[in-house]
Amino acid sequence: MIRRTRTTKALARRIDLEYFARPHPFRRWRLMLSIAVPAIALVWFFSQRAQGGQRAYSSGPLSYSHAVFAKQCGLCHVQQAGAFFRPVADKACLSCHDAPGHHENQRFTPACTSCHVEHKGAMRLSATADVNCTQCHADLHTKSGAPKYEVSISNFGGKHPEFRAVRDHAGDPGHIKLNHYVHMQLNLIGPNQRRVQMTCDDCHRPEGAADSAPYPGSAAQVQYAAAPQKDGAQPQRSEGNARAYMAPPEFANHCAGCHLLTFDKRFGEEQVPHDSPAVVRKFLAERFGGYIAAHPASVREVEEFDRELPERPNSLKIARDASEWVGFRVEDAEWLLYRKTCKQCHTLGVPAGSLPEVVKAQITRRWLAHGEFDHYPHRAVACGSCHLKAINSRETTDVLIAGIASCRDCHREDGPAREAAEGRCFECHQYHDWTKAQRTKGTYTIPELRGAATSWLSTR
Ligand code: HEC
Ligand code: HEC
Ligand code: HEC
Ligand code: HEC
Ligand code: HEC
Ligand code: HEC
Ligand code: HEC
Ligand code: HEC
Ligand code: HEC
Ligand code: HEC
Repeated sequence: MIRRTRTTKALARRIDLEYFARPHPFRRWRLMLSIAVPAIALVWFFSQRAQGGQRAYSSGPLSYSHAVFAKQCGLCHVQQAGAFFRPVADKACLSCHDAPGHHENQRFTPACTSCHVEHKGAMRLSATADVNCTQCHADLHTKSGAPKYEVSISNFGGKHPEFRAVRDHAGDPGHIKLNHYVHMQLNLIGPNQRRVQMTCDDCHRPEGAADSAPYPGSAAQVQYAAAPQKDGAQPQRSEGNARAYMAPPEFANHCAGCHLLTFDKRFGEEQVPHDSPAVVRKFLAERFGGYIAAHPASVREVEEFDRELPERPNSLKIARDASEWVGFRVEDAEWLLYRKTCKQCHTLGVPAGSLPEVVKAQITRRWLAHGEFDHYPHRAVACGSCHLKAINSRETTDVLIAGIASCRDCHREDGPAREAAEGRCFECHQYHDWTKAQRTKGTYTIPELRGAATSWLSTR
């Protein structure tokens, strides 16, 4: 058996008595590093500063739109008395752009930076996470009164209500009669008895469309210009975009090519203006007055019963003079127009005096007042693929607007990362009520925004 003998003397020999005089390789490295690392850091730091950058302090690159301000951290991180770190207050954001609140009835107002998250790199700041909306909308409470909207919405793909226009079954409030089914038939009788096949865009074009529709009326017909339609809904991002919504169809450009407003065979294809009944009466009186002046013998002619006049009591009236003749002819023409021609498309109100009242057209221009839509990015899709019911609709009152199911085929909250179109709330909704936006008056100089004039360490 071998025993280890460990004497104090033997142990003492292991210790290098000169250790403090010679630098050990490890300790030498420690010394060099403790000098070099701060030195390298300082060189990097000052070289950054020399370039005017302040990224040195930052926690990540700024968003696309704000990247231009990366040398001026103080624009957002505004100095506050006594604070070391300068958190970003709403006020800082509002110094460059107004962003009005959401809804008077909201119980609290989240901070700008809770939705618009900075220092996450080159991204769109308004692409906010759904949770910023569902923190309220998953279980909606209002400051006062019962909520006017669906109270439980958690994502577009699952818990999101069908659009109002579709779910309320309130019907189309418009007063122009239109049978979509009839017009979409093959071999419809077009101008000059030509057989045609209409397409949706013969009557529906985006407001900004420059090309003309294929069935316009004569130059005289185009005189009548409808007053622009106004609905009370709040303006939207897509509002200023002329390609977003379809313009309401107009008689002059979309109907007049096939539906003629002829009024008397003496005048062949000549038509009354597409205007109010008072204007039409004035026109008729002038045309018949001119006719009888040129053909005075016609006063005594017996008028044949006109089969074109619907349900006209066969009263053969013989005029005593030219002015009575004009009166009778105007009466006949108006009978035709208001019993047949105009009535085909219009609801005519109870005659006030002797002239009927044409009920306002009221073609709805925007159906989804609380959601965005834009036809333009969807232009590759066939109209009927979203407006499923249009082709078979026979009544004006039918609502032909696309329902939520067609959107869900493409838009999902997982978005492009999961082979879908963007489906987070911001894609289709506004948070800010932009109608209340104040004009921002620019006060910064270019150097103040870009650097050189001020720095992170100084206060503005
Ligand atoms: C457009 C406005 C804006 C500018 C410019 C800006 N920041 Fe920020 N910064 C923010 C917001 C918003 C936050 C997060 C909210 C908060 O903490 O106040 C933030 C947070 C920070 C934080 C805290 C760490 C974190 O991630 O929460 C640091 C550090 C920071 N910023 C540094 C900088 C530096 C350095 C600069 C200049 C290079 C800069 N910021 C420029 C808006 C800005
Ligand atoms: C120094 C001026 C300035 C400050 C401060 C500022 N912004 Fe901006 N912001 C801009 C400019 C310029 C744009 C780009 C032009 C535009 O879209 O109007 C912009 C764009 C935006 C956009 C739209 C662009 C996008 O990516 O979606 C949002 C959202 C936004 N800012 C939010 C904020 C928030 C939140 C703050 C406060 C943390 C803030 N901004 C602070 C100037 C500023
Ligand atoms: C602080 C709570 C709160 C937050 C956060 C919030 N909302 Fe709302 N929202 C409300 C209230 C309250 C109403 C009005 C309810 C009422 O009057 O019946 C409303 C109404 C709406 C409406 C219908 C009315 C309209 O103006 O069109 C939509 C759409 C809407 N919010 C979308 C959003 C989206 C998208 C977000 C996220 C970007 C969001 N909301 C974030 C509280 C909130
Ligand atoms: C083929 C269908 C058609 C016929 C026939 C027709 N209209 Fe119209 N009318 C329209 C359409 C579509 C509009 C709405 C857009 C426009 O003003 O062009 C309209 C609008 C009007 C308006 C404006 C209504 C408003 O909203 O203020 C008046 C007035 C009018 N028509 C009078 C007549 C008279 C009078 C006749 C007969 C002489 C007639 N229309 C025949 C289709 C028709
Ligand atoms: C290409 C020619 C053409 C154009 C353009 C056209 N129509 Fe017609 N329309 C017809 C024909 C043909 C009929 C008769 C079809 C039938 O009875 O079989 C008709 C019938 C109608 C009817 C009666 C439908 C029914 O229920 O029987 C109305 C109402 C009508 N059109 C309105 C309009 C309006 C409003 C416009 C413009 C927005 C318009 N049309 C544009 C050719 C056209
Ligand atoms: C991706 C689905 C989709 C496609 C494709 C589509 N629409 Fe629409 N359309 C809608 C929605 C949603 C609305 C409701 C928009 C609103 O008024 O708020 C609408 C509204 C309309 C309106 C009412 C006026 C308006 O703009 O609000 C007309 C008319 C219309 N579409 C015609 C067409 C025609 C014609 C085509 C083909 C060229 C077409 N649509 C293609 C979804 C679609
Ligand atoms: C002859 C012209 C004409 C043609 C062709 C036509 N429309 Fe229309 N459309 C109208 C008129 C006029 C209105 C307004 C009266 C109404 O609401 O019915 C209208 C209304 C609409 C509306 C909104 C009203 C609602 O009730 O939802 C949609 C959506 C629409 N059309 C889609 C289509 C589609 C899709 C096609 C093709 C399949 C088509 N239209 C073909 C004339 C036409
Ligand atoms: C065939 C697939 C498809 C269908 C169906 C579809 N979308 Fe889209 N939508 C898209 C694409 C692709 C874009 C463009 C995305 C982009 O540019 O980032 C888009 C864009 C949008 C936008 C943003 C428009 C803009 O200009 O910013 C809205 C809002 C929208 N869709 C709403 C709807 C609604 C509402 C429906 C249902 C009525 C619908 N979409 C149906 C594919 C679709
Ligand atoms: C692809 C488009 C799209 C997306 C994504 C979307 N919505 Fe909507 N939302 C709509 C449309 C369109 C309407 C119908 C607006 C109308 O009827 O006027 C609507 C209606 C609403 C309403 C009104 C409900 C009511 O009672 O009529 C609220 C609130 C709402 N959405 C919140 C949200 C929230 C929160 C999210 C995200 C979780 C979201 N939406 C995502 C398109 C969308
Ligand atoms: C509940 C989330 C939320 C809050 C809080 C919020 N925003 Fe927004 N912001 C959005 C959404 C969503 C959009 C895009 C839709 C829209 O225009 O309303 C947006 C859009 C913007 C835009 C315009 C972007 C563009 O496309 O031009 C600016 C600027 C902006 N916000 C600034 C602010 C400022 C400043 C604050 C604080 C006062 C703020 N936001 C608070 C969600 C929010």
